[in-house]
Amino acid sequence: MRKRIVAGNWKMNTSQPEGIELVKSVIEKSIVVPKAIELVIIPPFTHLSEIVKLSKGTSVKVGAQNCAEWSKGAYTGEVSAAMISSIGATHVVIGHSERREFFNEDNKMLYRKIKQAHESNLIPIYCCGEKLKERESGNFFEVVEKQISESLFELSKEQMLQVVIAYEPVWAIGTGKNATSQQAQDMHAFIRFTLAKKFGKDIADSISILYGGSCKPSNAEEIFARPDVDGGLIGGASLVADDFITIAQSF
Ligand code: PGA
Repeated sequence: MRKRIVAGNWKMNTSQPEGIELVKSVIEKSIVVPKAIELVIIPPFTHLSEIVKLSKGTSVKVGAQNCAEWSKGAYTGEVSAAMISSIGATHVVIGHSERREFFNEDNKMLYRKIKQAHESNLIPIYCCGEKLKERESGNFFEVVEKQISESLFELSKEQMLQVVIAYEPVWAIGTGKNATSQQAQDMHAFIRFTLAKKFGKDIADSISILYGGSCKPSNAEEIFARPDVDGGLIGGASLVADDFITIAQSF
């Protein structure tokens, strides 16, 4: 059975006090979410430590939005995977399309970040997905296959099992325009097929693949009902505790 995961990527939103209020509310409401669904809160770095403390003893896990591609040293402004792990966070988002676009992160760099995450026992949530132009020109499967192969194919089978994938079509992120459940299913099945060719079917069948891109209470149920969709990476809607919890209840 694959793990079902609903993760909330807050991006660069909320002051620390606002973030604490939000997470308290999510934790309080999370009792209605079946224990089999893993909830992960992904706040800004400045809130991580406090939010990890608040989530202790609850079913809510905490992750960072990014980590450095190096282990330590003279890299002003960077945060290492070891630092994130040392405060008790368990996950880290790697290669969000906003990082790829605004910070020029490429597939090979993301491979190095995944290695750093694994060395510090963090679960990377590796993001992939095509841009609007690539969707329209019809080569979106090739684009995602390249992202997957360049960032993940050098991992061992054991390491691959410690990765969560998030398919996030860039044209659906923050636009209010989600992929249809069929588009999501087709790409998730393709990603699983691509992983199966490299790592074998058993491993591919064990990896959770989340959908991200304008996922909200009104569309989560239909998207999550698809066989290869194992949950969601939620942006905007994760900033409202009730919406985030309703999405997590949508399986
Ligand atoms: P969105 O963002 O839900 O606001 O579209 C998703 C994401 O970027 O992870």
